Amino acid sequence: MIIDGKKEAELLQQKIKQEISVLKKTKSKVPSLTVILIGEYTPSLIYVKNKEKQSKDVGIKSNIIKYPKDVSEQDILNKIKDLNKDDNVSGILVQLPLPDQIDKEKIINTISPSKDVDGFNPNNVGNLASGYKSIIPCTPLGCLLLIKKIEKNLTGMHAVIIGRSNLNGKPMAQLLLRENCTVTIVHSKSKQIKSHSEKADILITAVGVPNFVKKDWVKDNAIVIDVGINKLNGKIVGDVDFEEVKKKAKAITPVPGGVGPMTIACLLKNTLECFKALST
Ligand code: GUN
Repeated sequence: MIIDGKKEAELLQQKIKQEISVLKKTKSKVPSLTVILIGEYTPSLIYVKNKEKQSKDVGIKSNIIKYPKDVSEQDILNKIKDLNKDDNVSGILVQLPLPDQIDKEKIINTISPSKDVDGFNPNNVGNLASGYKSIIPCTPLGCLLLIKKIEKNLTGMHAVIIGRSNLNGKPMAQLLLRENCTVTIVHSKSKQIKSHSEKADILITAVGVPNFVKKDWVKDNAIVIDVGINKLNGKIVGDVDFEEVKKKAKAITPVPGGVGPMTIACLLKNTLECFKALST
């Protein structure tokens, strides 16, 4: 089975849109997302444009603040502090990657945890790791929602995550632990990755290498979630050898049209959650 991430994202966005239209009847403010975009990195421009369009479609006010790539760190920190205080702003996202003169850690630490729609602030990361209420990073949340469309109860399943990033691998592990999975994380310095991946009931990959995961790396009937976005011969592909692995997997996400649309839908979900928390 091929998991239709686009369809699942549309369903989630419809729910969000419906909830916002009800909220608008009783609240004077609307959910709003401010994105800070620094420089002209093409993938970032595309992502941000997409986020803007999807936000508007569900009734979230979208505001993009653009800076040249030589902007000072202090200017960005000052802007974030202003946005933190602004009652009309529900969510703040600083698009990554950042230019070298700007310290990512400082930026992430300055975004108010209650407006941190990425869930990257250590306050949210710590709450997630402790099993407390937190804002959950959009990509792993999207992956989990897709996995749960296939299998409601993940208790006892062995999940193998390839990649240990703060954006995906680490929070993905926390989410799957919360679902009672046995979790293995492998990464670029791991030995014999195949010996782990071939045991996975759920295999999640975010490495950025086309065809990294081959058919013989995957157990029969595994759920395979491909977070990779790579260019190969002018085409966008994931990390998994899709044509071969789809013959073996119980369910697999395509690239494009798998995790990507769900990530954006989850960003909208997080923005709505921040709005609700701030307006109660
Ligand atoms: N750049 C690529 N993915 C992301 C993301 O999920 N959040 C932010 N802030 N930047 C990104």
